[in-house]
Amino acid sequence: MPFDASAYGRHVAAVYDDTYAHLDPAEAVERLAALADGGPVCEFGIGTGRLALPLLARGLTVAGIEGSPEMVAGLRAKPGGDRIEVALGDFAQTRVPGEYALVVLAFNTVFALPDQAAQVACFRNAAAHLRPGGRFVVEAWMPDPGAFRAGSALRPVRVAEDEVLLEAAVLHPAEQRMTTTKIRLTDGGVRLLPANHRYAWPAELDLMAELAGMVREHRWAGWAAEPFTDDSREHVSVWRRPEAA
Ligand SMILES: C[S@@+](CC[C@H](N)C(=O)[O-])C[C@H]1O[C@@H](n2cnc3c(N)ncnc32)[C@H](O)[C@@H]1O
Repeated sequence: MPFDASAYGRHVAAVYDDTYAHLDPAEAVERLAALADGGPVCEFGIGTGRLALPLLARGLTVAGIEGSPEMVAGLRAKPGGDRIEVALGDFAQTRVPGEYALVVLAFNTVFALPDQAAQVACFRNAAAHLRPGGRFVVEAWMPDPGAFRAGSALRPVRVAEDEVLLEAAVLHPAEQRMTTTKIRLTDGGVRLLPANHRYAWPAELDLMAELAGMVREHRWAGWAAEPFTDDSREHVSVWRRPEAA
């Protein structure tokens, strides 16, 4: 079946903001603004604007690429959402006009691409959006195949009085893929939120950046620039397009 960049949003858009309302984006926004250094920002998989709208509110020019019309409708419905240019399409291939100081691919969304070739194309597309010296930042979890006893797992993501979010996952290690469905339980009922991941370790992402002509500048354990160590469960990585010779 051909890859469908709109599939995730079709299932998730109606409950996306409620599901992730408990996450405070302030640290990420602070770091992204520092990395952009006043220049224009393009977010791949901009979604409903969780990061993009606070960046816009800080006076930055923001654009994005998004596969899901439902997620873009959510963005447009918010104050400022109509001031962000969004190209509808797959961020591995789609171009949004402009030359950017920063391209952002946050919240593990690099793994939403179906295979290595699509991820390499995405890194090349990010580099093509950057002005010389511009930065590409990726936020992603560290793959942990050992957590999938007998190939599958069910784990709580969030337990609150008004919501329980579980994640059921099956690992396909031969292809570095994971099939997951989040199960959201609320007083309103049960909602299934499917998402597929083609996961990669940071070293593979470094090679993708190199193929796209970029050089790594930072790897942190999170948005507060914590040191990346053996115990880090996620990373925020920054690569730069070299300055013109
Ligand atoms: C986990 S959400 C993150 C949204 C937003 N960046 C945030 O931090 O809240 C992933 C977003 O990427 C979009 N997306 C996933 N794969 C995509 C692709 N290949 N091309 C364009 N958009 C994609 C989804 O529709 C969704 O809006």
